[in-house]
Amino acid sequence: AEDPRLKAITEAIRVVPHFPKQGIMFQDITTLLLDHKVFKDTIDIFVDRYKDMGISIVAGVEARGFFFGPSIALAIGSKFVPLRKPRKLPGEVISEKYVLEYGSDCLEMHVGAVKPGDKAIVIDDLVATGGTLSAAISLLERGGAEVVECACVIGLSHFKDDCSVNGKPLYFLVEPR
Ligand code: PRP
Repeated sequence: AEDPRLKAITEAIRVVPHFPKQGIMFQDITTLLLDHKVFKDTIDIFVDRYKDMGISIVAGVEARGFFFGPSIALAIGSKFVPLRKPRKLPGEVISEKYVLEYGSDCLEMHVGAVKPGDKAIVIDDLVATGGTLSAAISLLERGGAEVVECACVIGLSHFKDDCSVNGKPLYFLVEPR
């Protein structure tokens, strides 16, 4: 039977049609963050999954991975590593470009944030094409970390059949409405 908390999580996510452009059904997780019980349940599900796996790094993807990652990291006793958009991190960085529907973007990670032997998970709010998570995986692996899994709150249904990104397992809680 499905976890009863998942229905409330689905319902707490506001769907905004035609944002940021015509035809996009934007999945707005800020309304989930306003519901203490649902926000707590969301974090608890991830914490229960990852607490006994020897995870040393939770890597969060800018921007909305930052809403979930630090709470998970603190609860499972791991470090938090922000993966940021270009020119935000002040130290030496490694960069990974990825392709978007129109154009491309880039994620960066501080050199030295992860080390060989680290076991990492990547967290974001949503996976659509998987391009962002692929870049995140590459950054962590280039830093020497092992990526155990990628975790999102919302996953597009085409990932249901092959629940992996870039060869790494993909875990998500709900599908978009
Ligand atoms: C959204 C979302 C994911 C990414 C998923 O971020 O929060 O990070 O897109 O898309 P993909 O699976 O096709 O790569 P966005 O690019 O809007 O950046 P933002 O969070 O900084 O607004």
